[in-house]
Amino acid sequence: MTPSEADYQRAVELLCAGELVAFPTETVYGLGADAANPEAVAKIFAAKGRPADHPLIVHLACHDAVEQWAEQVPDVAWELMETFWPGPLTLILKKQPWVPLTVTGGQETVGLRMPGHPVALELLRRFAASGGHGGIAAPSANRFGRISPTTAAHVYEELGERVPLILDGGACAVGIESTIVDCSRAEAVVLRPGHISPLHLEAVLGRLPQIATAEGAPRVSGSLAAHYAPLTPMRVITAPRLLDFINAQRHKGDRCGVIGHSQPPQLGMPHVWQMLPADPVGYAHGLYAALREMDHAGVDLIVVEALPDDLAWAAVSDRLRRSAAGAGQG
Ligand code: TXA
Ligand code: MG
Repeated sequence: MTPSEADYQRAVELLCAGELVAFPTETVYGLGADAANPEAVAKIFAAKGRPADHPLIVHLACHDAVEQWAEQVPDVAWELMETFWPGPLTLILKKQPWVPLTVTGGQETVGLRMPGHPVALELLRRFAASGGHGGIAAPSANRFGRISPTTAAHVYEELGERVPLILDGGACAVGIESTIVDCSRAEAVVLRPGHISPLHLEAVLGRLPQIATAEGAPRVSGSLAAHYAPLTPMRVITAPRLLDFINAQRHKGDRCGVIGHSQPPQLGMPHVWQMLPADPVGYAHGLYAALREMDHAGVDLIVVEALPDDLAWAAVSDRLRRSAAGAGQG
């Protein structure tokens, strides 16, 4: 699943011409445009149907590019980059004055990330070498509010012909969006939990970071209560109640799509049943694809077995909560 030389060349040509290119990262697929070109960035918002005041993440090829985009980068940010880049960590930093407000959603800060996927890195290196500022602005390549894509086929399903080129890098390893840490404040704060957990961050910060609450947080579309949502209504039910719940649905004449991790499939039930791994890393990898598949299965209700209440599960629990809040509104 490696793009050809011609694919990379076409991708760079499109980016330089102010067009969109979707590409894989280790978290989810991104919908990319030249971050220094406000008209190109505007096409991202149009394709996604996303409100213009939601800031985008700028993807970079290397640590050295950071100071082109951000100023007053604190030591703690450099330490986080040293440890976790390339990887699923986005840092919020004070932006350089030239950085267009279209990218930052009107804010004085910019989100930067060096992704850990070979296709993303190759694209970024080639784009940087073509001249210009080399940053690729890329939100997840889904329609606003919907489930993030973890394969090239998902991107096509979401955006179709709105994006002239989708680079295929196979299924994303991580499966949920990057951890976002705001380093523009006196103390680093987690704005969005992800694969890099508070415990990983503690090793660098020397203390457990604060997790932003919805009220005090700046605009982060991933922080909206309803996000990452399937079109089918969805309920989260604890394991002990699961069988009674889906039996009750059956008596009402409703067919459930069940996503479990510890409760094994019940044979003979007229329901669609999918098991995800019972560890948070494996679960994150499969979650969005499973929700998408349930949307396609034609069930009346998606029933998800509740997750353990444990810090290691915080990022997937966060996505599951938001998916449930927005589900069925398609
Ligand atoms: O894993 C990821 O981060 C993926 C891949 C493609 O890199 N991207 C992604 O982008 O999830 P998006 O746009 O779906 O989510 C990025 C989040 C948004 O919620 C946005 O509000 C936040 O990052 N963000 C970006 N710049 C920000 C800033 N200056 N201040 C606060 N939040 C910011
Ligand atoms: Mg998104």
